[in-house]
Order: sequence, then structure tokens, then C-alpha cells
Amino acid sequence: MHDKIITKFNSLKEKQLSIDITRGKPDKDQLDLSNALLDISIPTSSEDGADLRNYGEPFGIKEARSLGSELLDAPLENILAGEQSSLLLTYQTVLSNFLFAEPTPWKDLKSPKFICPVPGFDRHFMMLQDFGIEAVPIPLVEDGIDLQAFENLLKKDKEFVGILCVPKHSNPSGEIYSDENLQNMFRIGSNFSDKFLFLFDHAYLIHDFLPIPKQKPLWEIVVNSNVQDQTVITTSFSKVTFGGGGISFMATSGHSLELIKRVRTTMIICPDKLNQKRHVEFFKDSEGVKAHMLKHAELVRPKFEIAYSYLEKLDKSCGSFSRPTGGYFITYSTAKPIASQVVELCKEMGVLITPAGSTFPNNYDPDNSVIRLAPTYVSQDELKTAMEVFITAVELAHYEIDA
Ligand SMILES: Cc1ncc(COP(=O)(O)O)c(C=O)c1O
Repeated sequence: MHDKIITKFNSLKEKQLSIDITRGKPDKDQLDLSNALLDISIPTSSEDGADLRNYGEPFGIKEARSLGSELLDAPLENILAGEQSSLLLTYQTVLSNFLFAEPTPWKDLKSPKFICPVPGFDRHFMMLQDFGIEAVPIPLVEDGIDLQAFENLLKKDKEFVGILCVPKHSNPSGEIYSDENLQNMFRIGSNFSDKFLFLFDHAYLIHDFLPIPKQKPLWEIVVNSNVQDQTVITTSFSKVTFGGGGISFMATSGHSLELIKRVRTTMIICPDKLNQKRHVEFFKDSEGVKAHMLKHAELVRPKFEIAYSYLEKLDKSCGSFSRPTGGYFITYSTAKPIASQVVELCKEMGVLITPAGSTFPNNYDPDNSVIRLAPTYVSQDELKTAMEVFITAVELAHYEIDA
């Protein structure tokens, strides 16, 4: 068996491949779904008469906010429609609390900390690091966060200021938070403090490609738990229309809404209202968005199936992998502490994979076992080659074969 694996490694290496599956990006066919946006014709004013070409409407035009309200199931007055990046809204939320949170801005705390379910999104950790906020990991379980670990942390330290979650098709392991998990998170967090921030990056809100467990709208659970003033939800059309060319939305209330308005008022006189209008004309309403997302699903699902068909060839003793119902990633967990070695071996064969450890704060995966695979961006043929490389690398590292 070892000889066969070494032969495979050498022949893949000889091909001098150059394939990059590091990031979860839509492929060209997915982008083509939105080409009509490029030359869509729009009026010069919004439904309620605001001139789209001028300054004004700092929190977005009414029809874009209405679309956000339908998608996030929150009232219009709680919705802000922003520019092209939800990560920017998330960053601005942290910034606003850092500078102006009451009674104590986070910058004035001795050692502010955030709870981060892991594995998670590398840019979330980078963002917290920018502010000198420590990202403290807790495990994800099948239906959300490990509530016991959450409660234990909050009992230990008064300087936790929030939690940052991707509540659906979590990046990278694909968990979907259950209503019950969310309710319990809200109960525990709000008992800890009515200023504790529940920050939700809902990047994959409408990105299902298989049937998913039933979930109540997040905002409904938020309101029923009476935590709307300490909750911020962000999402965007980055993986609906164009990455960097979509629009973003936020739902929040009370002091959290005031804080975000305060920082945004200083830094952005208004978002790109023309692009907001273009998107509204393109989709019309949330049903239009959902119909569009079905087309994405048809393109994305086969890529995941290709990846599974290769991962299934690996002996179960090598590790296990996630089978998400949406989103952009598969997580492979090696049984032995060899993730960084697998990523290096892939690189040697010409395939780039997200660096091992990057789904944990400080790039530190204590088990050195989590590997994020992003199958969407490359062509089906490239993906097949990349997966062949990946399973060869896992076998080499797992069976400790010297190639
Ligand atoms: C969890 C998560 N949040 C945010 C983003 C980026 O979103 P945006 O382009 O709206 O800033 C991504 C993109 O990969 C993501 O995976």
C-alpha cells in the first residue's frame, strides 16, 4: 500500500499543479447568474424621493432596508442597509463599542475578551486582534455552541464583552444553531450582563444547498429573549451577487443601534445608494433573492459531492469530515495531530489549502487536526485533482510514509 501512495505522490508532484482552494469564493458560473446587474437601468431617485446620486440616506434607502427587513425578519426601523461588506459592519460594531460603549468603553477595560466558537473564521480573530481584544475559544457542538463551556467562562471572568457567532452553516464546519441553543445562549449571556454583545455574522443566511433543520428567524428568538438591544446581526450579498459588489444589512436595536449610527456618521456620509437600488430592481423582493439562491445551490452542491466522493476513499481511521447543508466549506478533522503536515504536503504537490490552525484564535489548533476545504471556486476538474492531492497527503501523513 505504501508504494502505491508514494507513486501517486510522485506522479501528482510531476504535474506541477497550481490549484488554490484556500478561500470560499463563488466560481465564474455563479457570478454569471448576476450579470444582469451590470447594465440594469435604474431611476435617479428612491421610492420615497431621495436622490440616489447625492449624499443622504445614511442608513440606506427605504426599499433596500425593506429587502433587508424581509430577509432578516426584523422590523424596518431595526434595519440598516450598508455598502458592500458585512465584515465592515461587524468591524464598525466592535469599534463603536470599543470607543463608546456605556458605562465603560471596551478600550478602558483592563483585558476585554470575546468568546469565539471554534473552528471559526480567521478574519474574526484578526479583527479582535486589531483591538487588542482576546478571542477565547469555546467548542461548537452539533446544534450550536457548547453552552456549558460558555457558562463556565462567564463565571470565571467579568471582562467578557461579547460572543461572535456564524449561526448558520458556520464557517468552516457548517453547524446550524438550534432555536434552543440560541435561547439558552441568550439566557446565560444576558444574565451575565445586559451589555454583553451577541454578535452574529449571518454570512450564510440564505446559502442552503440541501434541506436544513427548521429554524425560527433569529430576530424572533432575539425579541422573545428580550436581548434585541444587545444583539447585532449582519449579512450581505457578497455570495449572492458579486463579492465586493453587493450590499450589506444589519439588524439591531436600542443602544447598539445608536452606537453603530454614531461611528458610521463620522466615517461614511452615505452608502452607495445606486447599487442598493440596482439590487432592489434586480431582485424585487426576498422571494426573488431566494429563487436566485436556488440557482447558486444547483452549482455549489455538485462541488461538495465531488469532494465527498474523494474523502470517502480515505479509511475512516484517518479522520472524519463535515457534510454541511449549505455555506462554502468542508472541515476535515484528522485523527492524528497532522493537519499542518497535510497542508504542507498538498503545497508540495501544488495545491494550496487554508493554513492549518487559521480556524482558531492565534492560529493555534491545540489538536493540530482541523483542515478547511473550500471546493467552490475551482472548476470540477481542478477540484477532482485537488481532492486527489488532498487524500494522498492525508494518507502519507497518517501512515507516516516517507515520500
Ligand atoms: C463568516 C463570514 N463572514 C463574512 C464574510 C465576508 O463577508 P462580506 O464580503 O460581506 O464582508 C465571509 C466571507 O468569506 C465569511 O465566511
